[in-house]
Amino acid sequence: MTPKENQIIQEDNKEEFEHQTQVILLKDLECNKLIQKYKKIIRETAECFVNIMELHNLSLGDHSKRVSSDSVEVAKLYKLDEREIELIEIAAKLHDIGMIEVPKDLLNKPFSEMKDEEKELIEKHPVSGQTIISAIEEFHNIGVLIRSHHERYDGKGFPDGLNGEEIPLGSRIIFVADAYDAMVNKRNPLMRFTHEEAILHLKKFASIRFDPEVIIRFLATVKKSSRVLSPGEMAISVSQLRENMILSEGIYSRNGILIAQKGEKLSALRIEKIKNLHEIDPIIDDIIVKK
Ligand SMILES: [Fe+2]
Repeated sequence: MTPKENQIIQEDNKEEFEHQTQVILLKDLECNKLIQKYKKIIRETAECFVNIMELHNLSLGDHSKRVSSDSVEVAKLYKLDEREIELIEIAAKLHDIGMIEVPKDLLNKPFSEMKDEEKELIEKHPVSGQTIISAIEEFHNIGVLIRSHHERYDGKGFPDGLNGEEIPLGSRIIFVADAYDAMVNKRNPLMRFTHEEAILHLKKFASIRFDPEVIIRFLATVKKSSRVLSPGEMAISVSQLRENMILSEGIYSRNGILIAQKGEKLSALRIEKIKNLHEIDPIIDDIIVKK
């Protein structure tokens, strides 16, 4: 075909080409609208479930919202895609939906004071939660995350005794965020953990109850809320440790091992040992020393 013939054909088809482009753009727009509408329905359905939880027990709803927000922050550090983060966000919001099967007065009873059959009912809630939402096909993956949110990294959790990476990542994340919130927001103020105590607990049980990699990311997200230093304290890194410094807080490794006690005055030899331990099991938090 000569260039002249080609130009004639192009001009003949120009109108049809522009029309088809418009049709495609309109269809694309409609498709996007449908996707947004679908996402909105999923979110509104999840909110309905949260409302049911709140009607049963107001604190269940508040707890779920905090766990969901913390879980999303951790999930973002894994660089998961938007859809996976959304699944975790909704699963975290609904992780305790199965608790609506538990009578209200039992929800307020400390676990240690419960009879065996009451404990069994409480421990059923991950499976009950999955069952409740299983009627919605689109919530299938959310149900899987809910089912496993009490599985422990060492395989001693429930309901299936999964261990390590057999447990879905979303469930491992929710488990840590759930444990932290349960400690710092206990109903009884006398039983409530401080932020620092809760962090120590999480570190202590890293690789036992909790995925150590999730703990690292969780610590990174909650670090911004860690305690305010007093005027007589400063936060330093391992490389800034100097002889005769006095520790204002104990030093813990990434895996929760206590490396140096609060109040300890550091000698040169001691600093050398801390640095050697840091090579093996890193110290990821700031070290708080007296000025
Ligand atoms: Fe739970």
